[in-house]
Amino acid sequence: MLATIRQTAEYIKEAVGKTPEIAIILGTGLGDLANQIEITKELDYKEIPNFPVSTVEGHSGKLIFGNLGGKYVMAMKGRFHYYEGYDMKQVTFPVRVMQCLGVKTLLVSNAAGGMNKEFEVGDVMIITDHINLFPENPLRGKNYEELGTRFPAMTEAYSHDLIALADKIGEEEKIRLMHGVYVGTPGPTFETPAEYEYFRIIGGDAVGMSTVPEVIVANHAGMKVFGISVITDLGGKDVTQVPTHEEVQQAAVKAQPTVVKLVTTLVERM
Ligand code: HPA
Repeated sequence: MLATIRQTAEYIKEAVGKTPEIAIILGTGLGDLANQIEITKELDYKEIPNFPVSTVEGHSGKLIFGNLGGKYVMAMKGRFHYYEGYDMKQVTFPVRVMQCLGVKTLLVSNAAGGMNKEFEVGDVMIITDHINLFPENPLRGKNYEELGTRFPAMTEAYSHDLIALADKIGEEEKIRLMHGVYVGTPGPTFETPAEYEYFRIIGGDAVGMSTVPEVIVANHAGMKVFGISVITDLGGKDVTQVPTHEEVQQAAVKAQPTVVKLVTTLVERM
């Protein structure tokens, strides 16, 4: 595994030259953030050795390098989901490569269903913590001490400093920012009303099918993490709305300008 990660990192280093300390994973419908980056280099997942290729509609696969908010960053346009059939090591492979490239901070975004009764469609939620309901942990198996410790703490999986900074920006820019716990599920089904209710009772505010694997590996790698969910639909016992992929994408696209503003300013001020 180490040799594979290093081979991919070496390829990227050679192709790109300068490597960044900040990486961004763009979620469903949030690809527009990529348009804010003054791109210096783009790599198709197809051309990167050992990289999985994304299959889902609406997720194109590109690694982007360039400047955002005055900082040099890399961004993943298109991520790998467990529901596509990738295993947890494949889903998190890009984060390992980022680690090898010297990335210190990971910003992640996703679309999620809201269980918190205060939430509205289009809300932006800062992820304060998560609950891992994937059937497997990406760190299962042999541990490589070079990559991280066998039993990593997850007490501050999402950086308190970055959350505080985002809150400050939200206040200044008058962005309605919610806080909440993200429940990560394997998908690809949306939840039954009883499941939304169950996730709310166990402490979740929003639910989605990504992010948790990458954030676990980023923490293992010693990175600081910041995450946001765009609430694209609402679920619960009394909610009769039926979520669809199209609706999720539309709601995410609508929230894009807000998310772009928040993330760009956050990077600028980091
Ligand atoms: N459930 C799971 N994943 C999601 C949802 C949802 O309601 N909305 C967007 N991604």
